[in-house]
Amino acid sequence: MNMIVAVDENWGIGKDGEQLIYISADLKRFKALTMGHSLILGRKTLATFPGGKPLKGRRNLILSRNPDFAPEGAEVYHSMEELLEHVEEDAFVIGGASVYRELLGRCDTVYVTKLQASWPADCWFPNLDEDPAWTVAEEEEVLEEQGVKFHYVTYRRT
Ligand SMILES: NC(=O)c1ccc[n+]([C@@H]2O[C@H](COP(=O)([O-])OP(=O)(O)OC[C@H]3O[C@@H](n4cnc5c(N)ncnc54)[C@H](OP(=O)(O)O)[C@@H]3O)[C@@H](O)[C@H]2O)c1
Repeated sequence: MNMIVAVDENWGIGKDGEQLIYISADLKRFKALTMGHSLILGRKTLATFPGGKPLKGRRNLILSRNPDFAPEGAEVYHSMEELLEHVEEDAFVIGGASVYRELLGRCDTVYVTKLQASWPADCWFPNLDEDPAWTVAEEEEVLEEQGVKFHYVTYRRT
């Protein structure tokens, strides 16, 4: 399985249920990489999408323990075990913090957008640079948008 995430310099990923920043080039890349693949996400991350609606052109597999949660156009799973029975190996885990934590051990590729700035955050992604289980496979050139420098790094399980 794959993961995709945007992190700041402290590996922060969100605050008060929101993303730290939206970079349009990064959103385009996210769309290009994930299009046609299944997406795995938590209920709180779904709430950050426009109108709280699932992303188009992809299966959206949402985790929630709430039996009454039934967003249109998405599949809801009430446990990770149940979800994993219904997902393909080429799926993308797209957050949030709790789902990243639960599934990192099952992934072999992580697409990280490294933002070269920091913001106050209340949730983080595990620091892959400090984890010997992960190696940088590809590192792209530095880009800039809204005065924020960022670059894409692909990690693979060592
Ligand atoms: N920077 C990035 O790339 C990025 C990407 C995605 C998200 N984010 C950020 O991450 C933050 C959200 O992360 P989060 O950890 O608070 O929320 P989350 O992982 O998006 O969603 C958590 C919810 O998912 C459900 N869930 C999780 N594991 C489950 C399991 N094993 N079985 C059943 N349900 C399960 C529960 O829903 P119920 O409460 O309904 O039971 C839980 O409350 C936001 O700030 C968001 O902006 C950042």
